Amino acid sequence: MIIVVANQKGGCGKTTTSMNLAGVFARRGMEVLLVDSDPQGSAMKWRGLSQGAFPVGVIALPMPVLDQELPRLAKKYDLVIVDSPPGMETITRSALVVADLAIVPLQPSPLDLWSGTEIVSLIRRAEQINRGLVTRLLLNRKIQGTRLSRESVEALREFPYPLFETAIYQRIALAEAVTAGQTIIDFFPDGPSSGEYMALAEEILSIDLGSSP
Ligand SMILES: Nc1ncnc2c1ncn2[C@@H]1O[C@H](COP(=O)(O)OP(=O)(O)OP(=O)(O)O)[C@@H](O)[C@H]1O
Ligand SMILES: [Mg+2]
Repeated sequence: MIIVVANQKGGCGKTTTSMNLAGVFARRGMEVLLVDSDPQGSAMKWRGLSQGAFPVGVIALPMPVLDQELPRLAKKYDLVIVDSPPGMETITRSALVVADLAIVPLQPSPLDLWSGTEIVSLIRRAEQINRGLVTRLLLNRKIQGTRLSRESVEALREFPYPLFETAIYQRIALAEAVTAGQTIIDFFPDGPSSGEYMALAEEILSIDLGSSP
């Protein structure tokens, strides 16, 4: 399975989502490879802060050749997750055309929601080549009880793709885990963020990725 975490908007949580999901799936016993396709190399740096063994393989491939490379890698791993760069549509597009699932993290802010039209248009173009591509939106950095978060969920329902039931809340432990060179499931296994990523992983596994044309 190939999952691409994508949104041209910078700072919406692509690296946080892809690394922590990779950690949760690895904890479930899957062989997981994280492909860092961002020239900034954030996922590579995160992995580099790790003191010991890291449960997920991480490689850098910041080039628009993912359509050729990912299917080959997907044969060797149970799951390949791609962390994509902000902007740089050619790189993201080359991953989307061979992906099974696109996850679009969005923050509950009007600025992030407005720019959502760009990722929708990029995915629409990828779908013309990859007709089986399934897309889900992920609300990231949700803040408990705020009107903005509630309104954002309403606004996200206007998008042409479904929203995951699970949202990822804004939590400081998610930034602290990076400093520790760990994914959240190893950094704070019993914490609420780990629970959210586990629920998200369950939701992903329940999607019938083979049913699209
Ligand atoms: N749910 C969250 N709770 C707290 N902090 C978060 C959360 N999600 C992301 N962050 C923080 O927000 C910042 C941006 O997140 P991240 O780097 O994952 O976004 P990105 O989309 O990968 O950014 P870029 O477009 O630059 O690659 C980071 O400092 C990260 O630690
Ligand atoms: Mg990133």
